[in-house]
Amino acid sequence: MINKKTILITGGAGFIGNHLVRRMVKNYPNYQIVNLDKLTYAGNLENLKDVEGYENYHFVKGDVTDEKFIVALFEQYQFDGVIHLAAESHVDRSINSPMEFIFTNIVGTVNLLNAAKKSWGDDYSDKLFYQVSTDEVYGSLGATGLFTEETPYDPRSPYSASKASADHLVRAYYHTYGLPIVISNCSNNYGPYQFPEKLIPLMINNIKHKRPLPIYGDGLYTRDWLWVEDHASAIDSVYHKGNIGETYNIGGNNEWTNIDLVHQLCKVMDELLNRPEGSAARLITFIKDRPGHDKRYAIDASKIKRELGWEPTVQIEEGLRQTAQWYLDNADWMERITSGDYRAYYAEQYG
Ligand code: NAD
Ligand code: DAU
Repeated sequence: MINKKTILITGGAGFIGNHLVRRMVKNYPNYQIVNLDKLTYAGNLENLKDVEGYENYHFVKGDVTDEKFIVALFEQYQFDGVIHLAAESHVDRSINSPMEFIFTNIVGTVNLLNAAKKSWGDDYSDKLFYQVSTDEVYGSLGATGLFTEETPYDPRSPYSASKASADHLVRAYYHTYGLPIVISNCSNNYGPYQFPEKLIPLMINNIKHKRPLPIYGDGLYTRDWLWVEDHASAIDSVYHKGNIGETYNIGGNNEWTNIDLVHQLCKVMDELLNRPEGSAARLITFIKDRPGHDKRYAIDASKIKRELGWEPTVQIEEGLRQTAQWYLDNADWMERITSGDYRAYYAEQYG
């Protein structure tokens, strides 16, 4: 029997969302994929030009915090599943202005939960609410140890606290109302279409323009990097094979200090730009630290490997090269999104 589903993906015009939408639209022609996005500064329909014409793809512009609109959307489409990515996602912005994070990340999630509950009534068969979350909810690690699915939540930035809050509410709807939910907590993603407020695309753009490369604090903060398409494939696995009520950690088994990662990127960029070795690294500038900067994130991704058979496929050396090449090949994309508001943001953040 052909399995037909109608799935709501929120935040599909953002960085991870566009990779997920593309994957779901192309791999599941029997599904109807509805991409709901407010198109904030981080959302860009240009990211999805290649799937615009697909019959099973639908874009709706809207805000997850708008309760009436969300209820009406569920009535219109009768969704079988929700994959919820829409969020304010940048830690530095959450430090400068937390309120938008509270509305979108917490109130927006509750609106979706309520609408799903109302729309699905008493029949939860074949329904799923999937909350896409982050490893930042677990707080900060010391020099050793990994985040497991049992690590207690200990968020430290307004961003991670808002995501933790949303995760708790998603679990509360499972325990209280039996809503079929699943949650995944992923490490740092990188790859094409990431907005250049985040470390890797910001550095690529600055290297290209021979601008300083701002490293917060001593640069010894550690992140676990994952190729974005590997995250999309993990979400696909969790959506189709994950067990209701469970959490799955997703990571790259790939820890780097920021300074080592930026040095690696500098090497790649010198090669791709045909500049003498060491040119990009000379731009590195240590600046004041991020307040409350989490020291180290590292994911134990053994559960998703063991239970769902998922593991990362792209090595960082190859992924960084592909990412750098993509940004160089898509200079117009970068030019368009860094004109206007981005300049004001950059001036405020970096002086
Ligand atoms: P992003 O900032 O690139 O994209 C967010 C998208 O959500 C944008 O398209 C934006 O327009 C949309 N959006 C924002 N507010 C909205 C609202 N009120 N209503 C509807 N749409 C709205 O984010 P991303 O990096 O793609 O992250 C996507 C999700 O994955 C987030 O929930 C984030 O917490 C989570 N996550 C991100 C990473 C990462 O490394 N980027 C890692 C783990 C988890
Ligand atoms: O771990 C998953 C999280 O990864 C996601 O939930 C977030 O949405 C995503 O933004 C990302 O958060 P980080 O704060 O880790 O990512 P960011 O790219 O902002 O920073 C990565 C590291 O680099 C961090 O230690 C801060 C540092 N950094 C960042 C910027 C932008 C710098 O040193 N200089 C910079 O200019």
